[in-house]
Amino acid sequence: MIEKEIDPTRVPKHVAVIMDGNGRWATRQGLNRIEGHIQGYKTLRRIVEDASNLGVEVLTTYTFSTENWTRPKEEVDALMKLIVQAARAEIADMQELGVRLMVSGRIEELPDATREELLQDIEATKGNTKMILNLAINYGGRREIVDAARKIARRVAAGDFKPEDIDEHLFSQYLYSPELPDPDLLIRTANEMRISNFLLWEIAYSEIYVTKKLWPEFTKEDLIEAIIDYQGRTRKFGAVVEEKS
Ligand code: IPE
Ligand code: IPE
Ligand code: MG
Repeated sequence: MIEKEIDPTRVPKHVAVIMDGNGRWATRQGLNRIEGHIQGYKTLRRIVEDASNLGVEVLTTYTFSTENWTRPKEEVDALMKLIVQAARAEIADMQELGVRLMVSGRIEELPDATREELLQDIEATKGNTKMILNLAINYGGRREIVDAARKIARRVAAGDFKPEDIDEHLFSQYLYSPELPDPDLLIRTANEMRISNFLLWEIAYSEIYVTKKLWPEFTKEDLIEAIIDYQGRTRKFGAVVEEKS
């Protein structure tokens, strides 16, 4: 079995995923884009369980970007409603799997129902320790950095610390989810070779894996393949390191 090829001692702790291609998948099936998002949600349910079983500790998924508000209103409304439904439907399974929900992004700008449902799940699952599912919703990498800069500027203005005290470590403490480690592996589906404003700060040294698979058709085997590929890489972090043979 392919699963045996994963080295269980070197599973990426934090896997981040740009779940792309829902619209293309739907169009190819002759369905509307919203059907693609529903199918994408089903993939996410599976992958949360698979990632947790494989020993991933944090799974961050790009669910809705700050740029996605520019999509047609019907699609945005459908996505916000889908998040509400999913948050309600998945709470029991998250408790059973020991998954803790977190959200990165400007949650306060979401429609009331979406925000409240997410906040309830975040609160209800905060004691779970098997895996963190971090949904990036109303998330933009530049927005996150600007928000951090604002918070830091306020602290400097209040006299809490000096501009000279700001270093990479301090700065990262003001990002949306400072308690999470940086992603080890970044997966993007649908064959797009771009970052699309995702985790700009945090992916400085993440290994990137792009697959042609569209998100609705992404499987456990695809996740395993990505992890095996990751395990074959030599992470150098700028230093001189002997290549793996
Ligand atoms: C990703 O799929 C889901 C979201 C951005 C919400 P897309 O909707 O971007 O699918 P494509 O890129 O149009 O195929
Ligand atoms: C990135 O995908 C956002 C999410 C997956 C939520 P997009 O489909 O929005 O990105 P672009 O437009 O192809 O760069
Ligand atoms: Mg897309």
